Amino acid sequence: MTVGDSRAAGVVPGKPKTEQRWDPERYRRNAAFVPALGAGVVVLLAPRSGERILDLGCGDGALTAILARQASVVGVDQSAEQVAAAVARGLDARVVDGAHLPFAAEFDAVFSNAALHWMRAPDAVIDGVWRALKPGGRFVAECGGAGNVAQVLAALLAALARRGIDGQPSMPWFFPTAEDYRARLEKRGFTVRSIALIARPTVLPGALGDWLDTFAETFLALVPPAERPTLKADVEDRARPYLFHDGSWNVDYVRLRFAAVKSGDAKRGCEAA
Ligand code: BEZ
Repeated sequence: MTVGDSRAAGVVPGKPKTEQRWDPERYRRNAAFVPALGAGVVVLLAPRSGERILDLGCGDGALTAILARQASVVGVDQSAEQVAAAVARGLDARVVDGAHLPFAAEFDAVFSNAALHWMRAPDAVIDGVWRALKPGGRFVAECGGAGNVAQVLAALLAALARRGIDGQPSMPWFFPTAEDYRARLEKRGFTVRSIALIARPTVLPGALGDWLDTFAETFLALVPPAERPTLKADVEDRARPYLFHDGSWNVDYVRLRFAAVKSGDAKRGCEAA
């Protein structure tokens, strides 16, 4: 998902000047582990035959295709390139901003893997999910949580600071604590069945620089193109003592995984579905 609205309370204000772009080919090369490691959240969702499911932030549709074996699935993503890749797999995928979901009481479940942290208006996203679900519908998701990629972020900010650049306003990610996200879900009326932060150190298929190219474009764009290789090398040098082990980069991912239900008719603080 590309960066969305950033007006929600508790979210770093401001919008990075450069938006993250998604290149499906680069994503497959550098980030195939993202859907592969999303299998656990599919298990938590436990899709049932005949269900109608919304895949929020479907990317190139790798997990959407797995859900579609059992259920009728609509994938949405803000990246037209990723949606085109999902459509090429034969999926029903649409370009939609996660903060403006246009669905009304039509899904048995909303599923999301590795996407919510790109949506910087979490309350608007949660409102849209609530509206999209039928009564009793499930919201099951995994995203980056508090402390996610902290060493990478620290190295990036330090390498930029060394060049006299404040990278903080270009932060494109929202990594909430379990307490923060639970409170947002409950405020909207969801019953939270489970929510937890899970440390999941992740071995990259290649160099940390490739990860930065794929996921950290808003930071890299702060220097001219000719300086980006040196910036990436500087980030790698700073992160290496913490994240490079036994010949591989091992990034300090922390997942926030939760399952919630649209139960009762709670509408606290929000308009009715
Ligand atoms: C994540 O999946 O947690 C993630 C991916 C890219 C950048 C930051 C976090």
